[in-house]
Amino acid sequence: MTRDNLLDAARLTLESFRSADAAMLRCLDVARAACRTELPLLVLGESGTGKTLLAQAIHNSSRRASGPFVSFNAAALSDTLLDSQLFGHEKGAFTDAKHQLRGKFEIADGGTLFIDEIADMSPLAQAKILRAVEYGEFERLGSERLRTADVRLISATHHPLATFANTEQFRSDLFYRLAGLTVTLPPLRERPNDLRELVAVSIRRAAQGQGRSISGLSQNAADALFSYHWPGNLRELDLVIHAAVAMTEGTVIEEFAILIRNGDRPGTLPPALRPPVSADLRLRTVEREHIRRILRELAGNKTKTAQALGISRSRLERKLADAK
Ligand SMILES: Nc1ncnc2c1ncn2[C@@H]1O[C@H](COP(=O)(O)OP(=O)(O)OP(=O)(O)O)[C@@H](O)[C@H]1O
Ligand SMILES: [Mg+2]
Repeated sequence: MTRDNLLDAARLTLESFRSADAAMLRCLDVARAACRTELPLLVLGESGTGKTLLAQAIHNSSRRASGPFVSFNAAALSDTLLDSQLFGHEKGAFTDAKHQLRGKFEIADGGTLFIDEIADMSPLAQAKILRAVEYGEFERLGSERLRTADVRLISATHHPLATFANTEQFRSDLFYRLAGLTVTLPPLRERPNDLRELVAVSIRRAAQGQGRSISGLSQNAADALFSYHWPGNLRELDLVIHAAVAMTEGTVIEEFAILIRNGDRPGTLPPALRPPVSADLRLRTVEREHIRRILRELAGNKTKTAQALGISRSRLERKLADAK
């Protein structure tokens, strides 16, 4: 498998998750153990850290690989809908049940059932899952017949599930059932050693997908990527890089193509700006005017100006030197 196929879900394996980061390497040790065993696995981590893709990769590398990988999102479903989606229903079980439906547990028989956003399930749904996991049996809605399914369970959430279990927001007996093994994926901002490689892989994939040839990044564009805190993690990185490749006409990605939302960083919203009066609209000129104006408004304080602009102080110094 080449690195360019990284996100082709059906072919994804743990090989695609190479890392030089200690916390991530520990995650991969647990993931490899999860491939070798049938223990239920709980995947934790902020949104966009790769939980869903890791679950798929573990399934693909487990002895259930030839069986189905069935994904189910437990967020925002009513109890009835969740019940019928997970366990199925008979025709006429409720008003809208016009046909018989097999639930995800049945469909995942012989394979892996991935339940995403598990912390968002109602207490009733939690009780039903517990029974299915504990005894391996369940009924379709509207049927008394007990059914069984041979399912390996992987669940995920971006919430701190152990804390939820301690404070009774989540059943602790279910928590222990789900967490046969636990892996907590680190946020991207804590993986500085991996960022360069992840950026490179993302550029390669985006360029390939858009039929483009990109040789690299300018220094300023790289600085912008490396000084950012990535609240949306790998998902945000991938989207920013895809947009950057689309914005780039030549072969080198320049800073203006790095469209990072800095607005959610506290205290960095620059004051509202009037459109530049200068007729010179080249980016360098507009940027220089912008920097000088913020610097003026912040009484020449470079630290605050760098913060307001969402760049490092040393980068600001460089830009000011360039502008002279
Ligand atoms: N190992 C990886 N290498 C590169 N990009 C990745 C990797 N893992 C995830 N991504 C990118 O991040 C996106 C989100 O990944 P994924 O859906 O697995 O995250 P998640 O943790 O499940 O997020 P959520 O909590 O929102 O469900 C992917 O679509 C992909 O663009
Ligand atoms: Mg997910």
